[in-house]
Amino acid sequence: MEELNHFLENSREEIQKANDLRALDSLRVLYLGKKGEVTQLLKKLSEIPENQRAAEGKRVNLLKNELKKLIEARKKELHELEIEERLVEEKIDVTLPGRRSGSGGLHPITRTIERMEDFFVSLGFEVVEGPEIEDDYHNFGALNIPEHHPARAMHDTFYINSSSVLRTHTSPVQVRVMENRKPPLRVICPGRVYRCDSDLTHSPMFHQVEGLFIDQRCSLGQLKGLIQDFLQSFFEKEDLSVRFRPSYFPFTEPSAEVDIQCVKCSGEGCRICSRTGWLEVMGCGMVNPKVFDNCGIDRNRFSGFAFGMGVERLAMLRYGINDLRLNFDNDLRFLSQFS
Ligand code: DAH
Repeated sequence: MEELNHFLENSREEIQKANDLRALDSLRVLYLGKKGEVTQLLKKLSEIPENQRAAEGKRVNLLKNELKKLIEARKKELHELEIEERLVEEKIDVTLPGRRSGSGGLHPITRTIERMEDFFVSLGFEVVEGPEIEDDYHNFGALNIPEHHPARAMHDTFYINSSSVLRTHTSPVQVRVMENRKPPLRVICPGRVYRCDSDLTHSPMFHQVEGLFIDQRCSLGQLKGLIQDFLQSFFEKEDLSVRFRPSYFPFTEPSAEVDIQCVKCSGEGCRICSRTGWLEVMGCGMVNPKVFDNCGIDRNRFSGFAFGMGVERLAMLRYGINDLRLNFDNDLRFLSQFS
């Protein structure tokens, strides 16, 4: 009995000394494991005379239970210690200022579209959008581009099926507006357009902004004034030279292409403007009466003008972006310059 008491006292000390769960578990194995000391004692009971065996067995069992309890208690202590240590280690000083998450910026193309919209909205234009998957009629037919017209070949079209296309320009939105509303009309139509064309200066998807103005009497002079004001405001250059060059679009008559004085060399002639001093930036013209007929607008009561421009081109000229692909790479080194 004394021996057992001694053993218990020793073990109690050892258990208390165990400084981590691993050491404690080694002790458990040492005392209570298959080959542990208490297990050995239980085995030895058979060697004890029968009349003492029951009493001795009881004592060993008491010892065993006591050891179990001690180990459990120490285990709990160690657990709590561990949690406390972790709490100290992982303490967060909530009074420190936080790390700011970077705020994003608008993509230069989005910014450019918004700048364009702002200008026209301030003059009473309304922003209208149309579908990117268009039917052949709205993309071509209604705009006076019949089936075998060479202008169709110019628009390397993505066909979805024999009657649907990815719109090759934003001009079909004009048609939808004219079909659904009554003049007077002043709308601006931004959006994505698609052409099967891809090289250094062409991307299969790009953006255009279309404008349409219809009233009882509209003149080419109004169109010229509006476009000139727009370009001078867009490039923030009051004396920017703008010229109108006669051109051809099936949906306008007469038609013009608009050039601005080169933003790089101010007209002296450089690589950007192919030594001409001028940069082509948009197409425009007076709405062709045939388009009015197609859309149910009385050609004798109304006249109108329309214009269309490429957003990437204007954005690149304005911000000095020299590679079209930068617009679509989503490279933060590029994008963060606009935030
Ligand atoms: N849709 C033409 C294009 O993609 C641009 C254009 C030219 C639009 C003249 C117009 C316009 O509204 O009047 O090349």
